[in-house]
Amino acid sequence: MSQQLDRNLALEIVRVTEGAALASARWMGRGDKTNADAAAVGAMRLLLGQIDVDGLVVIGEGEKDHAPMLYNGERIGRATQNSSNKPIQSVDIAVDPIDGTRLLSLGLPNALSVIAIADRGSMFSPGHLVYMDKLAVGPAGRGRVSLDAPVADNLAALARAKHTAVQDLTAVILDRPRNQKYIEAVRACGARLKLITDGDVAAGISTALEGTGVDILFGIGGSPEAVITAAALKCLGGEMQCRLWARDDADRAYAQRAGYDLDKTLTMDDLVHSDNVFFSATGITDGELLKGVHYVSGGATTESLVMRSLSGTVRRIIATHRWDKLERFSQVEYSA
Ligand code: FBP
Repeated sequence: MSQQLDRNLALEIVRVTEGAALASARWMGRGDKTNADAAAVGAMRLLLGQIDVDGLVVIGEGEKDHAPMLYNGERIGRATQNSSNKPIQSVDIAVDPIDGTRLLSLGLPNALSVIAIADRGSMFSPGHLVYMDKLAVGPAGRGRVSLDAPVADNLAALARAKHTAVQDLTAVILDRPRNQKYIEAVRACGARLKLITDGDVAAGISTALEGTGVDILFGIGGSPEAVITAAALKCLGGEMQCRLWARDDADRAYAQRAGYDLDKTLTMDDLVHSDNVFFSATGITDGELLKGVHYVSGGATTESLVMRSLSGTVRRIIATHRWDKLERFSQVEYSA
């Protein structure tokens, strides 16, 4: 029997990521991560507050670097503010108002604004454990790679699945000393390697999209970004596996106290249990995945990736925004 598709929240949250991108893109290259983040978070909080949901922020931002937060546990959405008799959709929300704050502050490519939403209770909360070891692939690699397998085996399996040679594959890794073993292993196999300074959400998503030139992501990066990437890959039919990574004894002690298993491989379903996932990302600076915000006379253009896992629909939305119209009803300050 066919199932009715209800409201597509992805088409509502795209306005939120667009707003955060438009507000923060003003800070491109100005060397000011704090104000860039504040602009994105402010716009996101305001616009999320106008969506008819009872939202719980499960993945907030700022834990790692004390940035202005949409904090974990924050309740947001219009349904948290009124007592109407309308049925309330209760959801978990994961936000990354800017993934690649440093990229934006230096005017470098690939900064994005991102939100994922799923049924209440379905998103993994990493608590205070800020890093995870990650492996991400697109649909071709799904079910064929494992975080517990050596890099060489994963590359060989992916090459077989893609009917190509390991030398034709491109891996992407965050360029950090903690990822040196992955960097060396990929090089030893003869695969191509793209080292990125930041922004492993865009990199993880890129593994599942044709034309990005990226096949697989390895390495340790942010935990919030891992849950958000898993949500995106659910929509795209890719796969993500992760393991919480402790920086030091304090992290290990916290994990034990809070009941986190540092040895467990987290599957896609562990990271985002629901099959009803909504995702939106808007480019802030130009990148391989999305164009950034471009200002034109009296407005700006944005490009967003807007997806829903239940339907599998992937949209690219190119929008034109006009300040004279927007400023009549939006409290976000967009114009210069
Ligand atoms: P922010 O922009 O939120 O700071 O994240 C950027 C980022 O590069 C993520 O994409 C990545 O997962 C994480 O930081 C890596 O953390 P670190 O810079 O501490 O290695």
